[in-house]
Amino acid sequence: MKEYDFVVIGSGIAGLTFALKAAEHGSVAVITKRKGADSNTAWAQGGIACVTSDEDSFELHVKDTLEAGAGLCDEAAVRTIIMEGPERVRELVEVGLHFDDREVGGHREPDLGREGGHSKRRVLHVQDVTGLEIEKTLLRELEKSPAVELMENHMAVDLITAGKLGFATEDRCLGVYVLDERTDEVETIRTDRLVLATGGCGKVYLYTTNPDIATGDGVAMAWRAGAVIANMEFIQFHPTCLFHPNAKSFLISEAVRGEGGILRNSRGEDFMERYHPQRSLAPRDIVARAIDAEIKRLGAQCVYLDITHQTPEFLQERFPHIYATCLRFGIDMAKQAIPVVPAAHYQCGGIKTDVNGATTLPGLYAIGEVACTGLHGANRLASNSLLEGLVMAHRACDASVRAQPTSHAAREIALPEWESGDVQDVDELVVIYHNWGEIRRLMWDYVGIVRTDKRLQRASARLRNLQREIREFYWNFKISVDLLELRNLATVAALIVDSALSRKESRGLHFTLDYPELSDRRFKRDTVVSRT
Ligand code: SIN
Repeated sequence: MKEYDFVVIGSGIAGLTFALKAAEHGSVAVITKRKGADSNTAWAQGGIACVTSDEDSFELHVKDTLEAGAGLCDEAAVRTIIMEGPERVRELVEVGLHFDDREVGGHREPDLGREGGHSKRRVLHVQDVTGLEIEKTLLRELEKSPAVELMENHMAVDLITAGKLGFATEDRCLGVYVLDERTDEVETIRTDRLVLATGGCGKVYLYTTNPDIATGDGVAMAWRAGAVIANMEFIQFHPTCLFHPNAKSFLISEAVRGEGGILRNSRGEDFMERYHPQRSLAPRDIVARAIDAEIKRLGAQCVYLDITHQTPEFLQERFPHIYATCLRFGIDMAKQAIPVVPAAHYQCGGIKTDVNGATTLPGLYAIGEVACTGLHGANRLASNSLLEGLVMAHRACDASVRAQPTSHAAREIALPEWESGDVQDVDELVVIYHNWGEIRRLMWDYVGIVRTDKRLQRASARLRNLQREIREFYWNFKISVDLLELRNLATVAALIVDSALSRKESRGLHFTLDYPELSDRRFKRDTVVSRT
């Protein structure tokens, strides 16, 4: 059995930032199921929303965030995260990240981007590859730290808790079982402080802007361990994912609309003027629903994002990644509008935490997209998530260092080895892939941008059966990454559906035709669920 002072699962901005800070206090393992850089962060194009300009203020950023969150943000968490942002961003710059800047009156200032729902330009970015640059910077720092062991190609299977081992009076997280994908062995790792930073669950939907790793692992494990999960019905659909038969999950950043891009329907009309005064830069939920409505109304397959008023030089400089990728698919964005559709993008709910990242299970912390801190409420303001990951990593590290040490009794609990039982090798991968595909289509068709009770109930019934099938399959076959991911996807899908069914109103990202109005009297509260 291995033992570390801190174990971090996930290697995006939140996980790596936590690991770097925790390394000053003890030994750290970073467990990541693919390569270090395979994370949602690496795919983030927009940037970090942060107050850095004299024309901006914390109050305005707070106001924009609360407005987007549609009554469900935790204002104290919003204020804390926004106000600690500049200091954390400065630290990122100190370790070598260079945000785009521009010459103003003889000195350099950040070249701030604009995105939907923001009343000011406030998005720090590195062209359209901000997340990738952050990831590279943090991984470079991590390499210098002897206290951190980066365990690539290792997938967390399940959390080990005192409760599950029969010590229910003092339930806490004691460690984690981890599958080493190279040896197929499951290792037992003990720690007093386990940090989930596993990102979101975009892969639960057929169409998503997320990478393949986004299978809801953290939420599913925390749920099985008995931690409280909140607001899973609020899944953000990004309005503009590239629509092309060969393009998989490619985001066209909202920053393109921030630079004047206009959404047009298949007739070439600037349809957003009929939906919202901010037109193409309206909040994301409104734009995504408007696109959905236009596509259905006109029987089209997609809408178009037109930024042809900008010069090719500007587009290549500001959006090199998007420009080159579109060109690879035969689309010259300087000359023609880009075909786009909405796709699942961000999980606004997650494992419920306080403003220090502590979950309801002692010893377990959650940071980044996997967590529900109260920053996003019912709808996330664009580019607030990298900010949250950065700030919460620091806060969680400080809190976990200060936390009460594990009691003597808990330290005495022996951790059993993983029981693989009498299992066979998985020889029917086709079953896993079939179930995986079924969940993703089911969620897209029945639990998407526009919902109804009937569709949700259908999804719920089918998911219950699927979970039973997966459970049976899971116990008969040797575990693999595919199987673990499938099990996690099914759990998270069921949490989304159950949470959506319990909210009989429309708010933020949850829109249902059966209850199109907002009902503060009954539903101005988080949807809180736990296995216990
Ligand atoms: C984007 O670049 O449009 C994504 C930014 C975000 O989701 O925060």
